[in-house]
Amino acid sequence: MATSAYQVEGAVGEDGRGTSIWDTFCRKPGRIRHEDTGDVACDQYHRYEDDVALMADLGIGAYRFSVAWPRIQPEGRGAANQPGLDYYRRLVDALNRRGIAPLPTLYHWDLPQSLEDEGGWANRETAERFAEYAAIVHGALAGDVSFWITLNEPWVAAWLGYGLGIHAPGKTDDALALAATHHLLLAHGLAAQVVSSGEVGISLNLEPAGPESDDPGDVRAARLADLHMNALFLDPLFGRGYPNELVEHFRDVTDMGFVLDGDLEAIARPLDFLGVNYYRRHRVTASARPGPRVGDFPASMGAWSFAPPGVEVTAMGWPIEPEGLTDLLIRLHRDYEPGRIIVTENGAAFDDELGADGIVHDARRISFLRDHIAAACAALAAGVPLAGFLVWSLLDNFEWAEGYSKRFGLVHVDFTTQARTPKESARWFGRLVRGEDPPLA
Ligand code: FCB
Repeated sequence: MATSAYQVEGAVGEDGRGTSIWDTFCRKPGRIRHEDTGDVACDQYHRYEDDVALMADLGIGAYRFSVAWPRIQPEGRGAANQPGLDYYRRLVDALNRRGIAPLPTLYHWDLPQSLEDEGGWANRETAERFAEYAAIVHGALAGDVSFWITLNEPWVAAWLGYGLGIHAPGKTDDALALAATHHLLLAHGLAAQVVSSGEVGISLNLEPAGPESDDPGDVRAARLADLHMNALFLDPLFGRGYPNELVEHFRDVTDMGFVLDGDLEAIARPLDFLGVNYYRRHRVTASARPGPRVGDFPASMGAWSFAPPGVEVTAMGWPIEPEGLTDLLIRLHRDYEPGRIIVTENGAAFDDELGADGIVHDARRISFLRDHIAAACAALAAGVPLAGFLVWSLLDNFEWAEGYSKRFGLVHVDFTTQARTPKESARWFGRLVRGEDPPLA
């Protein structure tokens, strides 16, 4: 099961936590649906013991959470804030006591605001600060953690944050987004050097993109979109540098002068595992048309992604295509040969309701999970070294720009009372992981 700090913890003003870019962004009018914030979220900061007990009851074997950098270094640099470290110490101990493997992610988008004030991820120094922060967290938890994830979805942090302006810090400049891409990857490489115990990986949102038709415009747009979503991160991580075609595309925007000697070597330090977050794939066209899009690409790419007709979509408008996961895993194995792959996120939002019977009947989520787990197993059977599968998410939580309107949890949260109610999918998943081969709802 997976969550992240800002999406579940709440307690933003407690125990010396500093301000993050998400605290700031949520206060900008019109940025978050219903002007929601993560101030309280699921209050996991105070309720972690109950949440760990709930996972243990369900039979969950691993919990991926993230460490909030501003709890550890309120200003993003300098000495550790001990109460912040103590919280993650208690969480890790509670998980280990219950036999649930802790998988901390060091960065799931909550950059200390003080570092953003100095340029954030567009500023190279942030990568150096991140390595110092990683060393502090590693020093405190090493020995009790076997799997570390440096970054979550650097594409989202760089491009939704600095290019498309949909996420914090809300900037809209492709040059900044490319610099942020590089500095995030550099931060990963520098942090991976200091995290010297356990296995270290990075979680990427990999989103295969193919053309909607064989029209050359669509083919070209899909090629750029595919490079942007995938190779822009995979190629440097696996020692191939940045994809030339994409660098050429952005030539008017930047000469990539921020890539200094030695950076590509630092980024390409071998991964113990590649974390894959899979939610969707793209059918790309070069012709814009009205209607909901599956995702957004930089305007200069002239690429638009629409759900194919007849394919069911989730509450996010993302097409449900489990076979895309099998294909992706096989492609990664073939093209990059990572030693191990862990699916670090997969799941879906639906418009769940707590019924009068006190039950959330989320049969669609059960089907979704069943089909995606089967798709992952098909890749395993085809020889992909798949070592784990984590579901997003344990709890309904703060879904970034969508606020609390999108429910991804296997456990329903009443955000007024903080009551947790396992949905039918949680019961189903618990039986699955206990090897009981449960029927569909
Ligand atoms: C991923 C994020 C995660 C959550 C899911 C739905 O992109 O890593 O925090 O928002 O999407």
